[in-house]
Amino acid sequence: MSSTIDSILVENRVFSPGRSAVAGATVSGMENYKALCEEADQDPEGFWGRHAQEHLRWSKPFTRILDESRAPFYTWFDDGELNVSENCLDVHLENGNGDKNAIIFEADDGQVCTISYRALHARVCRIANGLKSLGYGKGDRAIIYLPMSIEAIAAMQACARLGITHSVVFGGFSAKSLHQRIVDVGARLIITADAQQRGGRAIPLKTAVDEALAEEGGDVVEKVIVYKRAGTDVAWDNARDVWLHELEAGQAETCEPVAVEAEHPLFILYTSGSTGKPKGVQHSSAGYLLWASLTTKWVFDARPNDVFWCTADVGWVTGHTYIAYGILAAGMTQVIFEGIPTYPHAGRFWEMIERHKVSIFYTAPTAIRSLIKASQAAGAAHPRNFDLSSLRLLGSVGEPINPEAWIWYHNNVGAGRCPIVDTWWQTETGGHILAPLPGATPLKPGSCTFPLPGISAGIVDEAGNDIPNGRGGYLVIKRPWPAMIRNVWGDSERFKSSYFPAELKGYYMAGDNAQRDKDGYYWIMGRTDDVLSISGHRLGGTEIESALVAHELVAEAAVVGRPDATTGEAIVAFVILKGQLPEGQKAEALAQVLRDWVANEVGPIAKPRDIRFGNNLPKTRSGKILRRLLRVVAEGQEVTQDVSTLENPDVLKQFTGVY
Ligand code: WTA
Repeated sequence: MSSTIDSILVENRVFSPGRSAVAGATVSGMENYKALCEEADQDPEGFWGRHAQEHLRWSKPFTRILDESRAPFYTWFDDGELNVSENCLDVHLENGNGDKNAIIFEADDGQVCTISYRALHARVCRIANGLKSLGYGKGDRAIIYLPMSIEAIAAMQACARLGITHSVVFGGFSAKSLHQRIVDVGARLIITADAQQRGGRAIPLKTAVDEALAEEGGDVVEKVIVYKRAGTDVAWDNARDVWLHELEAGQAETCEPVAVEAEHPLFILYTSGSTGKPKGVQHSSAGYLLWASLTTKWVFDARPNDVFWCTADVGWVTGHTYIAYGILAAGMTQVIFEGIPTYPHAGRFWEMIERHKVSIFYTAPTAIRSLIKASQAAGAAHPRNFDLSSLRLLGSVGEPINPEAWIWYHNNVGAGRCPIVDTWWQTETGGHILAPLPGATPLKPGSCTFPLPGISAGIVDEAGNDIPNGRGGYLVIKRPWPAMIRNVWGDSERFKSSYFPAELKGYYMAGDNAQRDKDGYYWIMGRTDDVLSISGHRLGGTEIESALVAHELVAEAAVVGRPDATTGEAIVAFVILKGQLPEGQKAEALAQVLRDWVANEVGPIAKPRDIRFGNNLPKTRSGKILRRLLRVVAEGQEVTQDVSTLENPDVLKQFTGVY
């Protein structure tokens, strides 16, 4: 079977950047974007070397740029040394920006507190000195299991200051997932909190740590540092547990940053694939920070008075690169939020943009779709009821954004004037890979547009040969880039087989399908595991899902295949409506309307055979739809797989009716 995918895509709407987006932009106009791409193509090492010198402060300058001798174990700037925390904090104090707000923290209950770069620097130094006093330093690994807080960012930065490699575990993960990561990473230290506040409730964190450490292998951890967040009662082990405020008390407010080699692992972040245990994605210090900083400046077009807000949690890569590292390295002011978008009401995000005068807002399609639904259900939650005039740029990450959701975001949140940067990237890529530059790139709703300068993206067949525009195939990155994954922690074989399959000519394989349209715009068609095969046509589910979402009654949709004797596979669509079924309309009749709609929008080949209605889709805790579980439901089988990574395990039970 061919690995190319049939494209049914037509998108003619183009949004060119307005005058205010172009004027003064970091990269202004397509000519400048193209010039950067050309520079990188002609002399990749020179290009990266130049940026590494211009954007990072080195303790010991590098003399080598890229070493390919052990490919795919590439190294960058490997004889240079620097400290990541120094690059994120000290540089701003020295440049006269010490009094600038680094972080505006809004708690679940609405309380706000701000911290300047100078105060954050002092806080990080105190924590680092505390960690040092306990005997921790370069070469150690720490698990960070904290809620969204200034403390979480300070803890990450304090680790970086000492050369401790951190592994942040999202606070929503269970004791079991935590245990798995503690053992795999070999953590000597955990930094956690008594509890986290979400949606008006205190959810315990330390109990999960206690539980995880009681399991086999948990005794690698010597100390547990506890941030008192909620003031809830916790069990206490005097020999092991230390309050963060007691550790910090009396510590000096300066701490010499420890220079580490460029390749020193800054962090390990676990990412769950569709099969096997989670992979510990290992990132470097210098190459990673370079790209975090550079993409912040390019893609978010960082300007001195911006107020940036990324709604991700620090437990995900987005919260690493575009909260804890890139945004600080670029010296921006950012909002961070402890709570959830629907508490105390579904207009919370818009209210916060108004309150903090946010100028750049970065969120996920899943959040946008659920807020579209909420704003229809409760008119008061609609963005039009808030003053969003401070916004100048919007962003999207994590999944393909359906064109209709894009248009809603553009019109209702961005008032038709804010460019949207749809950023395609992965935990493994360290930072943005395919993304528009807001002062340069004409946008098409639903497309992440073009590769960033220095990124040699391509779309290939199963032998690694380029596929022409208009056909889908494997998304690859042909040449190494500084922020790329360095290894799967403790499993080099898995690193090679997962990302550099021999057939693909040594290219980095992303695991996504994509196509370029006639103008060269990239369109992500879904994960390679999710391709549908209908009567000999291979289809990516994204286009069909986007067609369904374009119907006025539909809030969300997921499409999977089920085996079919005649067509190979039949399309099954799981559909979430914005409200209830319209009065007098039967599910059966609506299913027929939607089938005809898809036939009309995309083509008869894409018509769903079965339609199942429900209130929500099964999602990972980072908001991605888990289609592999829907495939089981689509086949009419009982779901027996582990559903512990699901945000909402109960949703699988609701899709009983088949129309
Ligand atoms: C998907 C998140 C379409 C994609 C930063 C990728 C996207 C996976 C986009 C990585 C986007 C992320 N358009 N799909 N703009 N951004 N994805 O590791 O399938 O949590 O491979 O990193 O999310 O998810 P991860």
